[in-house]
Amino acid sequence: LLQSQVESGQDHVTIDVLRFDPNQGNSKPSFVRYKIPIVPQMTVLDALQYAREQIDGTLAFNYSCEKQRCGSCAMKIGDSISLACYTPVRNGLKISPLPGFKVAKDLVVDWTPYEGRMLDLLPAGAGEKHVDGKDREIGESAATCIRCFSCVGACPTVDIKHEIGFAGPAISVMLASYIDQSSKNFVSSVEKANLEYCTRCYACNAVCPAEINIVGCIQELQKISGSEDSSANRLNEMIRGYFF
Ligand code: SF4
Ligand code: SF4
Ligand code: FES
Repeated sequence: LLQSQVESGQDHVTIDVLRFDPNQGNSKPSFVRYKIPIVPQMTVLDALQYAREQIDGTLAFNYSCEKQRCGSCAMKIGDSISLACYTPVRNGLKISPLPGFKVAKDLVVDWTPYEGRMLDLLPAGAGEKHVDGKDREIGESAATCIRCFSCVGACPTVDIKHEIGFAGPAISVMLASYIDQSSKNFVSSVEKANLEYCTRCYACNAVCPAEINIVGCIQELQKISGSEDSSANRLNEMIRGYFF
């Protein structure tokens, strides 16, 4: 799309970025429009960088690798959640922070509580044992997670704030990367993740830039914790069976 805009002589796009600074008492979330001169192959991250460098140096957002590897630039872009360094910019895009997390400033969110729970549920001695077969396949796929937390932003049932409910898709993937059914520590961590609250809506799979089968990971973990046949799953399977 951007290439065609360049070729048709259109030299700018406008983007609307949700700005909010909770440290300023009178700040309220509101969209601010930026006019960005476009170049071929321009990404949302390029556009944000232009806005910060050339228009308003106070605009806050995170990035590091610019190559879809570090996971730090996940945000809501248009109707979906994706990496700013991967998504082509287009005219009229609305850009807002990753849903569900507390906003630190503008597009920067605070992952700390979720990362804290991830550390809490890291099984002691994780990864020390060599596993084979299907577990190994699942573990290797889960290990490609870049910790962007896009899946968490998309999940309707994850408990980010209270740290006691459903640990959600990214922690499930972390657990799957250490899958070892013979380890008591591992089984205990899986039980504490409350995986029975996953509704199998597949919203996490749809946004994962690493294309990990997150729901598949959760289903394997549920077999271990005995929550495979939970009421939430039964309800979702019934709904799927009814409509599809
Ligand atoms: S499938 Fe489960 S983990 Fe994934 S978004 Fe839906 S409820 Fe969350
Ligand atoms: S599972 Fe996918 S979406 Fe979730 S944190 Fe890892 S890479 Fe990101
Ligand atoms: S900047 Fe590293 S994933 Fe986007």
